[in-house]
Amino acid sequence: MAGSDALFFLLSSMPVLSWPLFVAGNQRWCTEVIANIKYQCMDQNLSRIPAEIPSTTQQLDLSFNPLLILTPKYFAKFPSLKVLDLTRCSIDVIEDDSFGGLRNLTVLILTGNPLRYLGDRAFYGLLSLRKLSAVDMNLSSLYDLPIENLLVLRELNLRRNNIKSLKIPEFFRNLTSLQILDLHSNKISHIVIEDLNIFKEVNMPNLTIILSNNVINHIEPGTFKDIHIHKLSLRNSFQSNSIMRTCLHGLVGLQVNKLELGSFYSIKPEIKFEDELLDGLCQVEFQEVILICFKDLSNEKHTLFDCLSNASSIRIVNFDLVKLSAIPEFARLSYLELKNCLTVDVSLGKLASWRTLKTLKVTNCFHNTIFISKFYGQVQHVSLDLTHNQMIVNECCSNENLGTSYLRYLNLSFNSGIKITSNFEGLDELLSLDFQYTKIITRIGQIPTFLTLDKLLYLDLSYTSTHFFIQCAFCGLESLQVLKISGNSFERNILSQVFRNLTDLKVLDISNCKIEGMSSSAFSDLKKLQELTISHNKLTVLDPTAYAPLLSLSILDFSCNQLSFFPENALKSLPRLLVNLDISQNPFDCSCTHLSFLQWTQKQKSVLQNIQHMTCFSPSHLNSVKVMNVTISSCYTRFNLTPLAVSVGVLLPAALTMFLVYKCYVQQYFRLVLSRFCMDSREEEDKYDAFVIFSSKDEEWVMTELVEKLERGLPPFRLCLHFRDFIPGIPIATNIIQEGFLKSRKAIVIISDHFMESRWCGFEFELAQSWQFLEGNAGIIVIVLEKVNKSQLRQTLGLHKYLRRNTYLEWKDSRLDQHIFWMRLRKALMDGKPWGARERESL
Ligand SMILES: *[C@@H]1O[C@H](CO)[C@@H](O)[C@H](O)[C@H]1NC(C)=O
Ligand SMILES: *[C@@H]1O[C@H](CO)[C@@H](O)[C@H](O)[C@H]1NC(C)=O
Ligand SMILES: *[C@@H]1O[C@H](CO)[C@@H](O)[C@H](O)[C@H]1NC(C)=O
Ligand SMILES: *[C@@H]1O[C@H](CO)[C@@H](O)[C@H](O)[C@H]1NC(C)=O
Ligand SMILES: *[C@@H]1O[C@H](CO)[C@@H](O)[C@H](O)[C@H]1NC(C)=O
Ligand SMILES: *[C@@H]1O[C@H](CO)[C@@H](O)[C@H](O)[C@H]1NC(C)=O
Ligand SMILES: *[C@@H]1O[C@H](CO)[C@@H](O)[C@H](O)[C@H]1NC(C)=O
Ligand SMILES: *[C@@H]1O[C@H](CO)[C@@H](O)[C@H](O)[C@H]1NC(C)=O
Ligand SMILES: *[C@@H]1O[C@H](CO)[C@@H](O)[C@H](O)[C@H]1NC(C)=O
Repeated sequence: MAGSDALFFLLSSMPVLSWPLFVAGNQRWCTEVIANIKYQCMDQNLSRIPAEIPSTTQQLDLSFNPLLILTPKYFAKFPSLKVLDLTRCSIDVIEDDSFGGLRNLTVLILTGNPLRYLGDRAFYGLLSLRKLSAVDMNLSSLYDLPIENLLVLRELNLRRNNIKSLKIPEFFRNLTSLQILDLHSNKISHIVIEDLNIFKEVNMPNLTIILSNNVINHIEPGTFKDIHIHKLSLRNSFQSNSIMRTCLHGLVGLQVNKLELGSFYSIKPEIKFEDELLDGLCQVEFQEVILICFKDLSNEKHTLFDCLSNASSIRIVNFDLVKLSAIPEFARLSYLELKNCLTVDVSLGKLASWRTLKTLKVTNCFHNTIFISKFYGQVQHVSLDLTHNQMIVNECCSNENLGTSYLRYLNLSFNSGIKITSNFEGLDELLSLDFQYTKIITRIGQIPTFLTLDKLLYLDLSYTSTHFFIQCAFCGLESLQVLKISGNSFERNILSQVFRNLTDLKVLDISNCKIEGMSSSAFSDLKKLQELTISHNKLTVLDPTAYAPLLSLSILDFSCNQLSFFPENALKSLPRLLVNLDISQNPFDCSCTHLSFLQWTQKQKSVLQNIQHMTCFSPSHLNSVKVMNVTISSCYTRFNLTPLAVSVGVLLPAALTMFLVYKCYVQQYFRLVLSRFCMDSREEEDKYDAFVIFSSKDEEWVMTELVEKLERGLPPFRLCLHFRDFIPGIPIATNIIQEGFLKSRKAIVIISDHFMESRWCGFEFELAQSWQFLEGNAGIIVIVLEKVNKSQLRQTLGLHKYLRRNTYLEWKDSRLDQHIFWMRLRKALMDGKPWGARERESL
C-alpha cells in the first residue's frame, strides 16, 4: 500500500522532540543545568544565542562570549528570563530596547563590558529588574546609566568604575526601592552639598551607600545633614588619619543605622586608634558602629570612644593590642562584638558588668589563654558567645560561675576544653547551649547533668569526646527540640532508653557515634522528630520497628553505614512523610535476591539523596557499579528461563527484560507463551486503536479531551481505557494483556507528574515497550501533558530512547498548538489502521 507507506514516512519524519544538544557550531555548547530553566554557556566563543536554548529559559549565563552588540529585542525569544549574565561579553553597543520583552528579568549582569554606546532607552521594558550589576565598565558618572525607568531596582552595583562624583541624578527619585548603591573602588574624592540633595527630599531609610576604596579628601559639612539612610560604608576611604578626622566632621547631621569605618585587612595603612580621630561622630546619629582593622588600642585614658557613647551596638573586627579595659562603659550598649583580635590581656569581667549589655561576643581572640569566665550581666535575655578562642574553661556552668541567672544563649564551641564542675544550677533560663568541638571534661554522660534545664531548646555536644554511660544522660530536657551529639560514643546498653521522654525533639543527630545496632524502642517517644541523622555509624540493618514510631520524620540520613539492603518490610514501614532519604555509601548487595530493593531504589529517585554515591559492593561482578545502573532486567531473565508453568505475575516483567537481553530468542518464545495463554483473544486483535496508559489522576483530561476528541471525532477511534473496558473479575495483569495490548494497535502514554509518581503506570508502560517490540511496528505515542521535568523523565522511565523513536506530542495551552496536536495525534493513530473495515464499522 503506497498510501500507507507514504503516511508512515511522513509520520516518522515528523519533528519529534530531540533532547537538546546545544551545539551551536564546532565545539561550542551550553550546559543544561536545569532542563528548560537554566542554561550555562560561559566562554564558548558564541557570537549569538544558540538556537537550541528553549524559550522557557529563566536563567541564562552567556558570560565571556563575544556578543559585541545588543540590538533591539535581542532577548525577546526568552520572555521568561529572570537572570541574565552578560559578564565580559565585549559588548560595546547596547541599543534602545535591547532588553525589550524581558518583563520578568530580575537580575542583569553587565560587568566588564567596554561600553561605547548605551541607548537612552536601553533598559526600557525591564519592569521587574531588582539588581543591576555594572561593575568595571569605565562609567564616569551616575548619569551614564539611563535607569530612570527601573522602578523596582533594589541593588545598583557600580564597583570599579571611573565615577568621580557622588552627584545623585534627579531620576533617582524614581528608584524608591533602592537598597544598595555600591560605589566601591571608584574615583570619588570630593563630596559636596548638592551631591545628595535628592536624598533630602526623598526619604530612603533602607539605603546602604558603599563608598569604600575611594580616595575621599573632602566632605563638605552639611552634605549629609537631615539625610536618613540605613548604612554608610567607609572602609579604606581616607588616605590618612587626619583626612579621616576632618572628613568625619563632614558627616554632621547624618542619621544612619550602621556606620562602617576602617580599612581592609590586607591593605595598609591600618588605622591607628588616636584621640579625636572619631570626634566627628558626635554629630552623627547612629545605632551600630563597626570598626575594622584598627590597631594599638591600649591606652586606657584615650578619648577615642567618647563619641560612640550612645551606640547600641559596636563591632570591632580585626584589631590588635587591645586592653579591654580601654573600652569605656557605654550607656546604651546592648551588643558588643570583638572579633579576630591579636592579644587580649584581661578577662571579660569588666565588660560583662555593663548593665545594658545583652550580647557579648568575643570570637577568634584568645590564644591559649586560660580563661575563667565571670559574666556579671544584670539584664535579662543574655547571650554569651565565646567561640573559637582556644580557651579552657575551668569551672562551668552555674549562675555562680557565670555571674548571671539570665543567660539564654551560651556558646562555648570550638575551644580547647570545658571542665563541667556543676550541673547548670541557677541557669534555668537557658534556651541554647552549644559546646561543639570543645572537649568536655567529666560529668556529662556520667551523671544526670541537665535536670534543671527544662526550658532548653537546643543542645549541641557534637565532637566533645563525651561517652554516654547512663540512660538518664538527657533527663530533664523536657522542651528540647534539637539534639546534636555526633562524634561521641554510647555505652551499648543505654541506646534503648537514652532518648526516652524527649517528646518535643524535632532534630536528632547521632552520626559518627560508632553505633552498631539500634534498639527497637530507641525512638519510641520521638513522635515529633522531623530530621534524623544516623550516618557514619556501623549499622548493618534497618530495623523497621525502630522507625515505626517516627510519624513526623521527613529527613532521614542513613549514609555511610554497613547496610547491604533494605528488607521489604523496612521499605514498607518507612515514615510516610519522608521526602529526603540518604542511604548512600553503604555496601549494597545488588544481587537478584534483593530485587524488590533494587526496584524500589529506582522508583524512589526523587526521595533518595546522593544517588551517585549509591554503589554496589556485591556480587563481585557488580562491585562499584551504581545501584541505579544495575540492569534489573537481568534478574527477570533468570526467572523466565524456567518452564512455562510460571505465573502471570512473573511472566509480564519477564517479557520486558527478555526484550532487552535476548531479542531474537524472545520474540519466538514470548509469542508462544502469549498465544497459549490468551489463545482466544488473538481473534479479536485490533478491537481498539489504542490502549491508553495514564495515571488515574489525569482521568479528567483523558475523558474530557482525549476521549471526546478521538472517539467522537471523524474518523472515530476506539480507545481502551482500563477503568471502562477491562473485564471485571479478571486479574488486572491478565486484563492488560488480553484487553489492553493484544487487542490494541497502539499504546498512548500520557505523561504528567502524576504519571511519573505512579508505579503502576510505569509498569504498564514497560509492558507497552515490550509489546511494541513484539508487534514490530512503531506503536507508542507519548503525550506530555504538563511541563514535566525532562531530565527526571529521562531517568525515571528511561524514556528518552523511546521518545526519539516514537511519536512525541506535547499538550499546550494555546489553541493553535492544540489544533496541531490533534492533527498529529490523529495521523499517528491512523498509521496501520485497516481503512475499509473500520470505516464500515463506524458508519
Ligand atoms: C571564535 O569564533 C570565531 C568565529 O566566530 C573564530 O574566528 C575564532 O577563531 C574563534 N576563537 C576561538 C578561540 O575559538
Ligand atoms: C512572569 O512572571 C509571572 C509571575 O511569576 C508569571 O505568571 C508569568 O508567566 C511570567 N511570564 C513569563 C513570560 O514567563
Ligand atoms: C574610560 O573612559 C575614558 C573617558 O571617559 C577614556 O578616556 C578611557 O580611555 C576609557 N578607558 C578604557 C580602558 O576604556
Ligand atoms: C522617572 O524619572 C524621569 C526623569 O526624572 C521622568 O521623566 C520619568 O517620567 C519618571 N518616571 C518613570 C516611570 O520613568
Ligand atoms: C524598609 O525595609 C523594611 C523592612 O525591610 C520595610 O518594612 C519598609 O517598608 C522599607 N521602607 C521603605 C521606605 O522602603
Ligand atoms: C547621647 O544622647 C544624649 C541624649 O539623647 C545627647 O544629649 C548626647 O549629646 C549624645 N551623645 C553623643 C556623643 O552623641
Ligand atoms: C555557636 O558558634 C558556632 C561558631 O561560631 C556557630 O557555628 C554555631 O551555630 C553557634 N551555635 C548556636 C546555637 O548559635
Ligand atoms: C521518663 O518520664 C517518666 C515519667 O515522667 C519517668 O518515670 C522516667 O524515669 C523517665 N525516663 C527517662 C529515661 O527519663
Ligand atoms: C549510570 O547511569 C547514568 C545515568 O543514570 C549514566 O550517566 C552513567 O553513564 C551510567 N554509568 C554507567 C557506568 O553505566
